[in-house]
Amino acid sequence: MIKVRVPAKVNVQLGVGGLRADGFHDLANVFFAVALGDEVTARHGEGVTLTCTGPDAAAVPLDDSNLAARAARLLAAHHGIEPNVALHIDKAIPVAGGMAGGSADGAAALVACDALWGLDTPAGVLNVLAAELGSDVPFALLGGVALGRGRGEILAPLPVTGTFHWVFAVADGGLSTPAVFRECDRLRIEAGTGCTEAEVATPDADPALLDALAAGDPVMLAKALTNDLQAAAVSLRPSLADTLRAGTEAGALAALVSGSGPTTAFLVADAVTAEAVAAALLASGTCRAAHVTYGPVPGAAVQTS
Ligand code: C5P
Repeated sequence: MIKVRVPAKVNVQLGVGGLRADGFHDLANVFFAVALGDEVTARHGEGVTLTCTGPDAAAVPLDDSNLAARAARLLAAHHGIEPNVALHIDKAIPVAGGMAGGSADGAAALVACDALWGLDTPAGVLNVLAAELGSDVPFALLGGVALGRGRGEILAPLPVTGTFHWVFAVADGGLSTPAVFRECDRLRIEAGTGCTEAEVATPDADPALLDALAAGDPVMLAKALTNDLQAAAVSLRPSLADTLRAGTEAGALAALVSGSGPTTAFLVADAVTAEAVAAALLASGTCRAAHVTYGPVPGAAVQTS
C-alpha cells in the first residue's frame, strides 16, 4: 500500500489575462501550498476503483470524471500497462472550493500509482502528464510557492522565508471554475474593457508580493494579495462579501477569495490569531466550516511512516 499526502493551494496572486482562442486565460498565478491537504492511498486492485471518506465525501465524484482515476489511467497508458489500482481519497480539502482539491488528488494519484507500479517515471514526464490533467495539477506535485504562467501549468519555484498562517472559510456548495472565468469575462465586457487577449494586458507577478514572500513578512504580504477572479466569484455568490468582512473584522491581516472560490482565505499574523479568527468566522454564521492551517508545505509525496 502506498500513501501520498498532497497539499491544497491558495493563490496569493491570481492575475487573469485575456481569453485565448483555446478557451483558457493567460495567468500570472502565484500558488502557495498549505498544510490543509488530502491523503490518497493506492493498493493493488483490478481495473481502477475509487473510494472516498471525509466530511464532504458525498460531493466527490467516484467515476472517471475524478482526476485521481483519470491520473491512474493516463499514467498506465503512458507506460503501456493495464491500470490496476484501488484508490482511496481521505478528503479534507473543500470540494469545488477554489483550493485545487480535485487537482491535488490527481497529482497524488500520479505519485501513488507511480510508486505502486514501480515505474520510476522521471519528474519531467510526471509534470507533462499532470498538465494534461488540468492547469493546477503540476503545482500540486511541486508544492511550496511558485509562479504559474501560461494557463497556470508553467511553473517557476519562488523563494520564501518562514511560515505564514492562514484560516480558510468553507462556503455551502461549490463554484464551477469555468463559470467563474466566464463571469470574469462578462464583467470585463460590461465594464467596457473587453475580455480578449488583444484587449486585456498580460498580467505579471507583482514585485511587492515577491518581496513579501522572500522576506517572510505577513503584513507586507497582506497588502499585496490580489485575485482577479474575486469580483466574479462574489458576483456569482454575493454572500462571500459577508464572510470576507467577518474575517477582517475578527483581526485577519487580509481576506481574499481562494482561486475561483467559494472558499475564502484569511492571512493572519500568527497561529494564536488564526484560532481566534476561525472561531469568529464560525460564530458569524457566514461560513460552514473554518480551518486553521499554515504554509508553505511540500507537494505530493509518498509517506514513509
Ligand atoms: O485546466 P482546468 O481543467 O483546471 O480548467 C478548468 C476550466 O477553467 C477551463 O476549461 C477554463 O474554462 C477555465 N480556465 C481558464 N484559464 C485558465 C485555467 C482554467 O479559463 N488558465
